[in-house]
Amino acid sequence: MTNAFEHDAIRAQFPTLTQQVDEQPLCYLDTAATSQKPQSVIDAMSHYYQFDNANVHRAAHQLSARATRSYEAVREQVKSFINSARIEEVIFTHGTTESINMVAYGISDQIKANDIILVDTAAHHANIVPWQQLAKRTGAVIKPIPLNDELSIDTDAFDELLKLAPKLVAISHVTNALGTINQVESLVKRAKTAGALTLVDGAQAIAHFDVDMQKVDCDFYVFSGHKMYGPTGVGILYGRFEQLDQLTPMLTGGEMIKTVSFAGTEFGSLPNKLEAGTPAISAVIGLGAAISFIKSLPKEHTRQHEQSLLIYLQQQLAQLGDITLYAANPNNIGAVAFNLANEHHQDVGILLDQQGIAVRCGHHCAMPLMQHLALKGCCRASIGVYTNKQDIDQFISALNNVKELLL
Ligand SMILES: Cc1ncc(COP(=O)(O)O)c(C=O)c1O
Repeated sequence: MTNAFEHDAIRAQFPTLTQQVDEQPLCYLDTAATSQKPQSVIDAMSHYYQFDNANVHRAAHQLSARATRSYEAVREQVKSFINSARIEEVIFTHGTTESINMVAYGISDQIKANDIILVDTAAHHANIVPWQQLAKRTGAVIKPIPLNDELSIDTDAFDELLKLAPKLVAISHVTNALGTINQVESLVKRAKTAGALTLVDGAQAIAHFDVDMQKVDCDFYVFSGHKMYGPTGVGILYGRFEQLDQLTPMLTGGEMIKTVSFAGTEFGSLPNKLEAGTPAISAVIGLGAAISFIKSLPKEHTRQHEQSLLIYLQQQLAQLGDITLYAANPNNIGAVAFNLANEHHQDVGILLDQQGIAVRCGHHCAMPLMQHLALKGCCRASIGVYTNKQDIDQFISALNNVKELLL
């Protein structure tokens, strides 16, 4: 585990965490929804607005040159962070949702009626609904990929489905509702052997462990800045160059063209072709600061700290009694899903909030997974690099109070 001093220094970089809520220390266990931001991210964004505010790629003046340099430097940072082969493979979007929609829209021409698209049953709605829309437009057929007892993708069932020669496979790297992990390298390999395109949703993975595009080897990988200590409003669409280049741009307009006349328009080349309009410049700069923050962490210590905290959280919840845990596997990442006896998850969430505890309660944008579990919803406690043992203890003590009040 990261030693106490080192961890205190990491936590001290997050100003939001120093506040009180209802006269109690804020206990933020909702990192899977959005992480808190270190001061360096806040400063980088504010520096851009204070000193360099200008549009990118457009003007001859110095502010624009500075803004463009900072913006493009983040593309280099992302390339190295995820080990993509080419800089053009890194597209700035507004988040995971937009990234997946861009792929689902962009491959419409490559999909025909009755083509099969395999989708992870435990996926976030962002990785389900765009494929359903694609199916509506093209007549393609969506088939959910069954889950095993640990609520990860069932590899035998997956292999069976691959015999249907699907055109595309869309899976989660780490599920947002449960924190279960899928062995994406092996799943992608099997899908590619079956001739499918592959998209991996890395929104819940990217902040917790190294993600290497050469190893995952998928066609598309997507994530959001705000779940990795960066700002909202920015995300990444990584795509293998040949696949990305074939996507029909979902957004068209300025920035993405080579020539425009009323006789017709010629699109520019990657990455600009997929970045129409003024991008979220300050958010991209904030994302760069978030990557620098992650890279500054003592990697092995941080992973070990997060993993032992998660296991501690799972154990403490199990020991509390009257708690149902959902797929609380020791190798899960970042989150624990639970319900308290037959109590409504929202009631539990409100009573926890009154004690300074922030958790997420609901269907977690994963209704098909909730249907699989025969649940209306559940509570989810999720951790980040700043979470400490006191947070878990405060949470367990508050949940015990809820239990005494309700049961
Ligand atoms: C696994 C997963 N995919 C997609 C999303 C959607 O991300 P965003 O709302 O940033 O577009 C989330 C957000 O919770 C997520 O956890």
